[in-house]
Amino acid sequence: MCGIIGYVGPRQAVDVIIAGLRRLEYRGYDSAGVAVQTDGRIEWRKKAGKLANLEAALADQPLPAATLGIGHTRWATHGAPTDENAHPHLSGDGRIAVVHNGIIENFDVLRAELANDGVRFISQTDTEVAAALLGREVDAGADLTHAMQAVSRRLEGAFTLVAIDAQDPTRVVAARRNSPLVVGLGTGENFIASDVAAFIEHTREAVELGQDQVVTITAESFEVTDFWGQPVQTSRYHVDWDTAAAEKGGFDWFMRKEIFEQPKAIADTLLGRYSARGELVLDEIRISPETLRRIDKIVIIGCGTAHYAGMVAKYAIEHWVRIPCEVELASEFRYRDPIVNPQTLCVAISQSGETADTLQAIRHAREQGSHVIAICNTNGSTIPRESDAVIYTHAGPEIGVASTKGFTTQLVACYLLGLYLAQIRGMKYGDEIRDVMDELQQLPAKVQELLDHASTVYELAHQLADQEDYIFLGRHVGYPAALEGALKLKEIAYLHSEGFAAGELKHGPIAIINPDMPVFVIVPPQGRDQLHDKVVSNIQEVRARGARTIVLAEQGDEHVVQFADTVIGLPTVSTLLQPVLAVVPLQLFACEVATALGNDVDQPRNLAKSVTVE
Ligand code: F6R
Repeated sequence: MCGIIGYVGPRQAVDVIIAGLRRLEYRGYDSAGVAVQTDGRIEWRKKAGKLANLEAALADQPLPAATLGIGHTRWATHGAPTDENAHPHLSGDGRIAVVHNGIIENFDVLRAELANDGVRFISQTDTEVAAALLGREVDAGADLTHAMQAVSRRLEGAFTLVAIDAQDPTRVVAARRNSPLVVGLGTGENFIASDVAAFIEHTREAVELGQDQVVTITAESFEVTDFWGQPVQTSRYHVDWDTAAAEKGGFDWFMRKEIFEQPKAIADTLLGRYSARGELVLDEIRISPETLRRIDKIVIIGCGTAHYAGMVAKYAIEHWVRIPCEVELASEFRYRDPIVNPQTLCVAISQSGETADTLQAIRHAREQGSHVIAICNTNGSTIPRESDAVIYTHAGPEIGVASTKGFTTQLVACYLLGLYLAQIRGMKYGDEIRDVMDELQQLPAKVQELLDHASTVYELAHQLADQEDYIFLGRHVGYPAALEGALKLKEIAYLHSEGFAAGELKHGPIAIINPDMPVFVIVPPQGRDQLHDKVVSNIQEVRARGARTIVLAEQGDEHVVQFADTVIGLPTVSTLLQPVLAVVPLQLFACEVATALGNDVDQPRNLAKSVTVE
């Protein structure tokens, strides 16, 4: 949700910034802008629309040579995505340029105060208020660092600000509250950005910034303080993925590449988590086994896809651990006064680790004394840092806005957590748990098998690409998988798609079935599961209303063939793990339909990868 970058060093700042913005564009792509400091003045360009528009503007009217600058790619919150509202924003006299991610909640009060003092605003953004406040501080004699500290103390809400001063050719200054920001440490150059992707081609050494901190970088140094100027300790880390991981590697879309990376992502997420004796080892769970044995309720929170992963986790954890488990949308959690206490384990699932709704939910849970375990894909991000423990999903960077490998690795991490809790609580399902642990190891190969048959799904996508309404059905863990299939199609194909619990169909939704409407049905594995036959009946119900049925069932499931217009065979797996497989053809289908419709699959309209506003 908005990508920001600041650079100081020997290279051409514009080039470094534009390359960084290209990697951050997944965070928002309503408009983009860049500002540089040169010869005692600030020069800038900004354009509504994607980064390509800004690049075209820069080709038309290049910026002068400069070695210090800032850039921004925007996901609009205050003010429409126009040229005027694009960042950077300047103070009235053009001395300060600032880019911003987040929402300044008290901006109207500050804006009124400044307007009273005669400040004129040219945009509708909250950011321009920050630019004006910084301008006022430097005009009164403060250097940019002190100005940023003073202004940050006055701002409420979520904000990451990065600013430069026309009269200071040495420093870029940033502040962070409730929004992500990392420092990249190069040799004779330094970077500030929303995430490490922005500077990974220059350095893999990074520094995490904490809440309410201000950082000043020069080409040779960085200094971090709190909002009152007190120096604070920082921790440095090495980024272990490389530029290649953030490139498309021959695929047309990052999303498609990420779908195909799932076998490796799942294998990496399992790596090192089994002992030689076949037990689970989750060293990163720094909550003592005694505490975990005392837990009497689990609350799982997440948004969108992560929430669906949580719905699957509930089935698995309740079955293996026999602890009541609630799943809650993070955005709803704290507003309903939930009953959580020190005996509650809160599991927060977030690919980015920066989702504001999830972050606020875990803060609320911790305030009530509950323990929080994050399941996250982004090292050093805010949610794991504010949790008691984290299980990282080692999926590598997920750039496509629609989550794919993020989801399947979240499922795997949830299974690991469930199995671990069962292990330490001494649950007596010896064989079943051992079988599941073996099955997890086989998932990468089974996902690969599905990917090897992607062309069948693509063919189906081309046959159906003119359809406008889709239904996805499933029961038990197939239900969240159906919801995820429907969400993928909404997000990138912009098509009306609904996921339902198949058993619920007859209670209303069946009325919307039209002749020829594509209905995807996820069928539980046969034999071991009584739900299997019920879902087969559900297929017949929609078929009888003329729907076109696309059935995802275990390979060799003869019962479904007669009721299916198309069968997609899934490798054999136990029911609880089936969503990891079932979702793969649904991801491929959505990606191919969206491509056939000419949509931008990686940057779907109105969305952003990391939603850092509530
Ligand atoms: C769907 C999608 C979103 C995210 C949601 C949570 O494809 O990407 O629904 O799953 O915004 O994001 P994280 O997992 O980063 O907290």
